[in-house]
Amino acid sequence: MKQSVTAFAPATVANVGCGYDIFGFAIDEPGDIVRVSRSKTAGVRILEITGDGGRLSKIAEQNTAGFAVIRFLEKIQSDQGIDIRLTKQLPMGSGMGSSAASSVAALIAVNHLFNEPLQKADLLTIAMEAEKLACGAAHADNVAPALFGGFILIRENTPPDIIELPVPDDLYCTIIHPDIEIKTLNARKIIEPFIPLPDAVKQWANTAGLVAGLYKKDLTLIGRSLTDHIIEPRRANLIPHFDEAKQSAIDNGAIGCSISGSGPSIFALSSSLENAEIIAVSMSSVFSNYFIANQTYISKINQTGARILDEKD
Ligand code: HSE
Repeated sequence: MKQSVTAFAPATVANVGCGYDIFGFAIDEPGDIVRVSRSKTAGVRILEITGDGGRLSKIAEQNTAGFAVIRFLEKIQSDQGIDIRLTKQLPMGSGMGSSAASSVAALIAVNHLFNEPLQKADLLTIAMEAEKLACGAAHADNVAPALFGGFILIRENTPPDIIELPVPDDLYCTIIHPDIEIKTLNARKIIEPFIPLPDAVKQWANTAGLVAGLYKKDLTLIGRSLTDHIIEPRRANLIPHFDEAKQSAIDNGAIGCSISGSGPSIFALSSSLENAEIIAVSMSSVFSNYFIANQTYISKINQTGARILDEKD
């Protein structure tokens, strides 16, 4: 019988410009690591969290990894005691799917510990509940790509209707994370529930254009379809120098650029590793010029999603 399992779940880019709450893709690194171990003591405990600067709750019910494991055990009707160790490698409030990476890594690990009693679709539902705990909304556009990998369309939340989209081989993503924190909960509050019809028309044309571009492997169609007429104009003010950083990405060859999730991270797509690196340098220098510390990441779309790193009997 397995005694402990360690799993990794990657960072994700949600929304992907035009697709608020319906598109997301995974990148290779960074991501969060969760180790779950059987315990003789009943209940779920978070024994250790590193990389969070002491900010995350160790109360299992209040932490997305702990919450997910509690829900998992309820679902499989087990009273097995579980100890959790969480290694945060994703910055919190970064727009890179930090809460999702923790819950998904925990779920993949605990499901493996019990010899995979649940399907990924069941794990997704639990991870969505954990997102609701983290930011008040059970959106799936971070948890689904973190779990399945790839570029995901969430056509429906309840019940989840998840569609994996094809990705051109030569598509690269550059992400810049300026050291500013934006809480998704707050970034969602500023979005009005009603939108003007002309904006909606442009937006759903772009969501269709993006899907067509992915199927046709047409990078210019993908690029021009990323334009977000609804959310980005309302959230851009939360990110200092966003317009300048976006312009520098476009000037340096990005096919498109927008806010990653609820920000402050910004993602740009391009057609080569060399170009992705040039974009990283250009966007980084924008923030560095304003003395805002920042980190950049470059990746293809990660097709694997969360994975097991280690198991011990
Ligand atoms: N779709 C969510 C939002 C993603 O934009 O609020 C949060 O990472």
